[in-house]
Formats: sequence, C-alpha cells, structure tokens
Amino acid sequence: MKIKSADFVISNTDYELCPKESLPEYAFIGRSNVGKSSLINAIVDRKNLAKTSGKPGKTQLINHFKINNNWFLVDLPGYGYATISKTKRHEFKKMINNYLLNRKNLICLFVLLDIRHNAQKIDIEFMQQMGEEGIPFVMVFTKSDKISQTQIIKNINKYKEEMLKYWESLPEIFITSSEKQIGTNDILNFIEKYNKGFDPTLVQ
Ligand code: GTP
Ligand code: MG
Repeated sequence: MKIKSADFVISNTDYELCPKESLPEYAFIGRSNVGKSSLINAIVDRKNLAKTSGKPGKTQLINHFKINNNWFLVDLPGYGYATISKTKRHEFKKMINNYLLNRKNLICLFVLLDIRHNAQKIDIEFMQQMGEEGIPFVMVFTKSDKISQTQIIKNINKYKEEMLKYWESLPEIFITSSEKQIGTNDILNFIEKYNKGFDPTLVQ
C-alpha cells in the first residue's frame, strides 16, 4: 500500500470523543518506550507524525491519525510505566481499557514487544486479557536492529514457547525495526488486507 497522506486528527482521554467516522482502525500498544510512536512513523514514513522520546511515558493520550483518508492508526500510552503516581496509572488503565472495549471499528491491536527481552509478565497478562475480552491482536517485536539475526530467531522461539503455555495457537507475529524500516511493509500489507474486508455497516 502506498501512503499518500497521514494526518493527525485528535488527541484525547475519552473514547467517546474519538472520531465518529466508520473507518477501519488499528491501535498500537505495549510497554512504555517499546517503540509504538516510532513504529507508527516508520509505517507511514513520516518522521515526526507521532511524538517519540528516549524517556518512557511520552505518549499520554489516545492519538488518532488518518491515513490515505480511509483508515486510522492510533498511538496509545504505554503500560507498565513505573515512575508515575498510582492514581495516574489507574487513570491511564481506565482510559485504555475503555477505548479497547468500546471502540467498535478497532480491527486489530498491535501489541509491541521489545525483541531483546524475555517474555514479561505484564505483556503476557495483557495479551491474556485481550483474549478474554475477544479483542483481536497480533504480536509485533520491535528494535530488531539491536540484536543479531541468530539472536532474533532464538528470542522469538523462546517467546513462542512461553506463549504456547497459555495459548493453543499463536497470533500473527511481525519482526520490526523502525530504525532500519524492517517489517513495516508486512504490517501495511496486513492492514491493506483487513481494510479490503471492512464492512462499515457492521460497526455503526
Ligand atoms: P511511550 O510513548 O513513552 O509509551 O513510548 P513509545 O513506545 O511510543 O516509544 P518511542 O517510539 O517513543 O521510542 C522510545 C525510544 O526507543 C526512542 O528513543 C526511539 O528512538 C527508540 N526506538 C524505537 N524504535 C526503535 C527501533 O526500531 N530501533 C532502535 N534502535 N531504537 C528504537
Ligand atoms: Mg509513544
């Protein structure tokens, strides 16, 4: 898919204020600093569309971007960000959960995982929660430029083994690097496929 336009639409804390148009939507989630905003920029090939930072906790709102005037990408705040207050963390969780549970045109959630790390409890639990709620998701490994090809294969296999302790079958897996533009076309092809099958009457 060719990206002809990528426009910021709105940022907010309330799913009810998200754009009303019945367009297919794909959201990015994962631990703070895993590379959600960077991957959104890499996918649409725009350097500063979503705000990125070396420090965790940069994205704090639900951010909608309209792509090619006919689908949405959504940048969400990270979870597991340790240095915010308990109250704020609770507010973030409520905001994200409300969005995930109520957003009817959300076609698929991209759960981002840092390819360098072992499976983390917080990610495993999050994906289990998505399974229980029936929210479709795929796994997206980030920052693959930071390790060798051998290590990538080793880490992915280890992660799969861990997931198979809880799941009978695994969701689709993408290996990406925003830095090196790896895996971005695979994600665009995935989105294109789902955009083609999108029926707006089902989400009204
Ligand atoms: P929050 O909004 O804080 O939850 O973080 P985020 O998940 O949106 O992460 P962000 O995209 O802001 O990236 C965090 C840091 O990781 C930045 O310093 C990025 O430059 C770096 N980063 C992101 N993706 C990659 C990648 O593919 N490779 C490398 N080497 N660095 C990356
Ligand atoms: Mg971010």
